[in-house]
Amino acid sequence: DTDMFTYDPGFTSTASCQSGLTYIDGDKGVLLHRGYPIGELAEKSSFMEVAYLLLNGELPKQDELAKFNRTITRHTMVHEQLATFFRGFRRDAHPMAIMCGVVGALSAFYHDSTDINDPKQREIASHRLIAKMPTIAAMAYKYSIGQPFVYPDNALSYTGNFLKMTYSVPAEDYVVDPVIEAAMDKIFILHADHEQNASTSTVRLAGSSGANPFACIAAGIACLWGPAHGGANEAALNMLREIGTPDRIPEYIARAKNKDDPFRLMGFGHRVYKNYDPRATVMQKTANEVLEKLGVTDPVFDVARELEQIALNDEYFIEKKLYPNVDFYSGVILSAIGFPTTMFTVLFALARTVGWVAQWNEMITDPAQKIGRPRQLYTGPTQRDYVAIGDR
Ligand code: SDX
Repeated sequence: DTDMFTYDPGFTSTASCQSGLTYIDGDKGVLLHRGYPIGELAEKSSFMEVAYLLLNGELPKQDELAKFNRTITRHTMVHEQLATFFRGFRRDAHPMAIMCGVVGALSAFYHDSTDINDPKQREIASHRLIAKMPTIAAMAYKYSIGQPFVYPDNALSYTGNFLKMTYSVPAEDYVVDPVIEAAMDKIFILHADHEQNASTSTVRLAGSSGANPFACIAAGIACLWGPAHGGANEAALNMLREIGTPDRIPEYIARAKNKDDPFRLMGFGHRVYKNYDPRATVMQKTANEVLEKLGVTDPVFDVARELEQIALNDEYFIEKKLYPNVDFYSGVILSAIGFPTTMFTVLFALARTVGWVAQWNEMITDPAQKIGRPRQLYTGPTQRDYVAIGDR
């Protein structure tokens, strides 16, 4: 019924919307945040600078950045009762399961910043989410390995604080490795925001109903977890490890090309990029640098580079415009640093919280914003009368 195709319900759907935060040109492989190319931001700025840029629209001056860092740092601790909340999970719970639960519960602890109509409460909730995600992520990791939680050390940088909460133990001194701190900060920048991806759409749709920001970010975390989305970084490294050696790559390329096989090359392909994901370019370069500086040789990295070369010269991938995406090399770096694969998507969520919060603020302050209400194209039976059960 062609009328259904032209049907315009006049609703403002968050299925697609206007935004001034992030521009992507999928054909050219371009990604800009408020006009700045991702490659320049990754090489020259810091994650806190990019967070400020996404939230405020301009790169901060020195004093503005210092003030922003102090504001975020003030909120790094979490309510002590949350530690009890953690202890309700099984020790072998996936850290993403813990993140979904704990972030969703934040509105039960910070109900003094859940009134979305109060600009001050919106700002406090935004800063609390950005500041507490590293603490919660580190707590999820510590809980899963049976080590005690480590309190934030606000004398450190945002990323240095996260590394110390994750890797330090009370029994020993801990010094943040500047190589790892720089690599993690760059990885956080590369994951900060990405236009209207599935999890950001989820955050916006939840926010359009007036739900509190903590609930909206929890919804985004749940969506990000899927292996087709943020969960791909964990799946990509598991795939590279399963391949194991370059001689087994052709078997997996063949499976990826086989329409009857549900297997997909994880870390390859994208809904928007039909060219190189500019983040993958930076990620591969960073992987090279980090493995060299840390003196780590990981055969998985060789498999990744060999697989990329074979795929990029295979007519199937060329015809379908499939290139490595942000998730293809990130796992190589995270693994070299020492993160288990189960933490990879947690790190993605930690960084993407900045984008989700910035996108939520942009939406919630848009006077034209209505509740998101995408429609469905009905393909079921036309109207018919009820039939008594005895006559069926
Ligand atoms: C992220 O949206 C974002 O911005 C997301 C993200 C962000 O920052 O928020 O960039 C993060 O989620 C990156 C994507 C991570 N996911 C993966 O790496 C999982 C593996 N990739 C695939 O599942 C897939 O590429 C998707 C889900 C990412 C996209 O799938 P689509 O929408 O089917 O992609 P497409 O339309 O471009 O596919 C074209 C063809 C299809 O075959 P045909 O129907 O034409 O026969 O290529 C095939 C697809 O089946 N294809 C693949 C493939 N990806 C697509 N075949 C083999 N291996 C793959 N990885």
